[in-house]
Amino acid sequence: MTHRKHSSRLDVDIGGVRLKNPVMTASGTFGYGKEFDELIDLNQLGAIIVKGLSLLPSAGNPPPRIIETPCGMLNAIGLENIGIETFITEKLPFLRNFSTPIFINIYGKTVEEYAALVSLIDELDDIAGLEVNISCPNVKSGGVAFGVDCDVAAQVVARVRKQTAKPLMVKLSPNVTDIVEIAKSVEGAGADSVSLINTITGMMIDIETRKPILANITGGLSGPAIKPVALRMVWQVAQAVKIPVIGIGGIMNAEDAIAFLIAGATAVQVGTANFVNPRATIDIIEGLEVYLDKYNISQITDLIGALEI
Ligand SMILES: Cc1cc2nc3c(=O)[nH]c(=O)nc-3n(C[C@H](O)[C@H](O)[C@H](O)COP(=O)(O)O)c2cc1C
Repeated sequence: MTHRKHSSRLDVDIGGVRLKNPVMTASGTFGYGKEFDELIDLNQLGAIIVKGLSLLPSAGNPPPRIIETPCGMLNAIGLENIGIETFITEKLPFLRNFSTPIFINIYGKTVEEYAALVSLIDELDDIAGLEVNISCPNVKSGGVAFGVDCDVAAQVVARVRKQTAKPLMVKLSPNVTDIVEIAKSVEGAGADSVSLINTITGMMIDIETRKPILANITGGLSGPAIKPVALRMVWQVAQAVKIPVIGIGGIMNAEDAIAFLIAGATAVQVGTANFVNPRATIDIIEGLEVYLDKYNISQITDLIGALEI
């Protein structure tokens, strides 16, 4: 007799955190969780990654901040957020009602800000881990982004590593010459996993006004348009590091998620798809079960890196 709902076969381990399935929400596309509570059962998710938080609240960039593009969207939200303290007092209590592991996505303008954030989060017993976003400007290093220079990326990871024993997932920028080198650097500095990719920098122009459509001029491209780039990067990084790789970029359905696992991802994050279909994560989890049944695969982990060349 086969059991259609044999949930343990979807279990994965992402660098010290056991997930009941490999499907997480991508930061910035799922609010602080509560926004989706009436739409889906949050307990079914592999993990929830909340919107990026900084030490102090931030208003982000002026509008327009989002524009649809062919097969995707361009956003320049500018990491608007309520700040870590307000998150802890106003948002975290709600998330404690669920068994789903919670990851806090953080970003800082300086290495010290990252460290201060991590030491605050380290005290929160009910937080499963951190996702460290290293693709924002590094003010103290002259505007170079943390995630585009191997040494700077390693420095910030080594610094936050000292601050916590909680699992550290480091989120990588695709806007680099060689993402593999950055991945190896952060692995060497103590990351427990890497997640990739963040958005790809792009722009749109209104030819009537000859002005950029986004007030910020450039923005981050996400959605199906970036999936082939993301898959390629996940495949390359997965071959080069020993820590788990989390695949992100244009995952809209179970077929997309499966492709990332085959490329070498241990788990995936779903971003833009949440805006199109708020049930996307749940549909993907159900689709993974169907795929395992169809191909008679006993464990989802058998698919990881199963690419045949
Ligand atoms: C509106 C929006 C806001 C985002 N905010 C964040 C954020 O706060 N922190 C972060 O690390 N990534 C952020 N991202 C990037 C996503 O988490 C994800 O890496 C990217 O969108 C690619 O995945 P997708 O194609 O599935 O959307 C944001 C993306 C979008 C579209």
